[in-house]
Amino acid sequence: MADMQMDALFGQAREAADKAYAPYSHFRVGAALLCEDGTVITGVNVENRSYGLTICAERNAICAAVAKGHQRFKALAISTPDSTEPVGPCGACRQVIGEFMAANVPVRFAGSGSKKIDSTVGELLPFDSLHELKK
Ligand code: THU
Repeated sequence: MADMQMDALFGQAREAADKAYAPYSHFRVGAALLCEDGTVITGVNVENRSYGLTICAERNAICAAVAKGHQRFKALAISTPDSTEPVGPCGACRQVIGEFMAANVPVRFAGSGSKKIDSTVGELLPFDSLHELKK
């Protein structure tokens, strides 16, 4: 995965974040998924006044991709423009990410500052049963 390609994917995540529905937290999140065939599918966090029914950007992107027939992914980028520092995916999202992405799939996340984290699915979800079985 070339750095330039990841920069472009992150740009799409950042752009998507502007479409977030986050009237309660005022914390926008955008996710961009690069599918195996090169298609990019984005997702945003969609909140609800019950709070607990909020769905994160990452899970929304994965669900939208699966609904369009994509189940294999090459990279994931997550943008949190309302935090200066990078914010990693929540535990629930890590589980869903691990369901569809191999341990070596690159994941980038960054806030509005210059710091960016380049990680992998395996780093975010270590000792996952599905990944271990595939070894
Ligand atoms: N959120 C995401 O969409 N993804 C994450 O990885 C972290 C949290 C959302 C949930 C909620 O709408 C807002 O960010 C504040 O937690």
